[in-house]
Amino acid sequence: MLRVGLIGFGTVGSGVYERITNSKDKLKQLLGKEVEIAAILVKDRQKQRTADVDAFVTTSWEQFCNKANFDIIFEAIGGIEPALSYTAEWLERGVPVVTANKKLVAEKGQILEGLADQHSTYYGYEAAVAGGIPIINALKGTLATTAISRVSGILNGTTNYMLTEMIEHHRGFADVLLEAQELGYAESDPTDDLEGFDAWYKIRILSRLCFGSWPLANEFPRKGVSAIKDWHVEVGERIGFKIKLIAEAWHDGTQVRGSVKPAFLTQTEQLASVRGVTNGISIEGESINQLLFIGPGAGKEATANSMVEDFLFNERTKHSERGWGVGSEVQNEQLTHSFVF
Ligand code: NDP
Ligand code: HSE
Repeated sequence: MLRVGLIGFGTVGSGVYERITNSKDKLKQLLGKEVEIAAILVKDRQKQRTADVDAFVTTSWEQFCNKANFDIIFEAIGGIEPALSYTAEWLERGVPVVTANKKLVAEKGQILEGLADQHSTYYGYEAAVAGGIPIINALKGTLATTAISRVSGILNGTTNYMLTEMIEHHRGFADVLLEAQELGYAESDPTDDLEGFDAWYKIRILSRLCFGSWPLANEFPRKGVSAIKDWHVEVGERIGFKIKLIAEAWHDGTQVRGSVKPAFLTQTEQLASVRGVTNGISIEGESINQLLFIGPGAGKEATANSMVEDFLFNERTKHSERGWGVGSEVQNEQLTHSFVF
């Protein structure tokens, strides 16, 4: 029996529950044992849950920890504390933790990866960047020794969805924000989406994997879609440019630099055609020229799928040494995108 501890049962946590429950036979075949969700930790005991999960739900960390000797923890609560303490506690016990929490990974990933190494386990964060796109394990795995000079992309599904709806369908800001929240795309505090923090956490995680070290937060300036004014939209429409929130990081020969900013993209730039909740990531390097990854950037099913696949991938490869970004200098310092804000 493989016992799962699920921390959080909102959009993502309930998605993980459903993904595991709906693929039990396949998981048994792959892992050679039954998978059982042994306990679920939530915040609010009064919230209505479905009858099948009610018996496993608790709001007490102590009770949660005493429910079982977990074999895997999925963390989907978000934020730094208590997620940091909870994650550290299980990594220290040698139990793998898989997360979708980009804020925690960007801010404390170095410590948590260190703990995982120290206790011969792993900290998986595939779902923390670009929801359903398997970019993290691609960078850790089949691209681990590829020299990368630049990584850039649209990394926030909520604001890309909002920009698409507002510009193409002339809908109002408040209306589309509410819709993105109802669809489960937005953070519990959407300030993280609107002010570019969410994309900023994600580009710092990608930068660490592409260039080998965790960047300092203050090395990456950040502006969110709140910097976009009506006249930007009007000018963009008139001259046929698309406005996108672009996150990027590149190696200038001596150091890694990066930013999150809205930008005007020409119609010919590949990221210009990334619409709705979709994310797009471009990886550049001399030997690969450019790799593009495009797919769902947020949402229950895509994110939960990434978390479960992350667990399975790490289970299969946990004994192998992985490289961490070799990086290479950009050939052309000019920014990829036509005009940044
Ligand atoms: P939700 O707000 O939908 O769910 C959060 C869950 O965590 C709820 O079940 C809540 O309990 C529980 N929770 C919150 N605080 C605590 C606490 N202190 N102790 C115990 N339980 C707690 O968030 P999401 O599912 O959308 O997001 C979760 C994480 O996944 C975040 O890090 C987010 O950034 C990330 N993520 C989200 C994506 C998405 O598309 N939504 C995509 C990729 C990543 P209760 O149910 O009682 O309120
Ligand atoms: N709020 C995030 C987004 C969730 O919209 O991209 C996925 O990380």
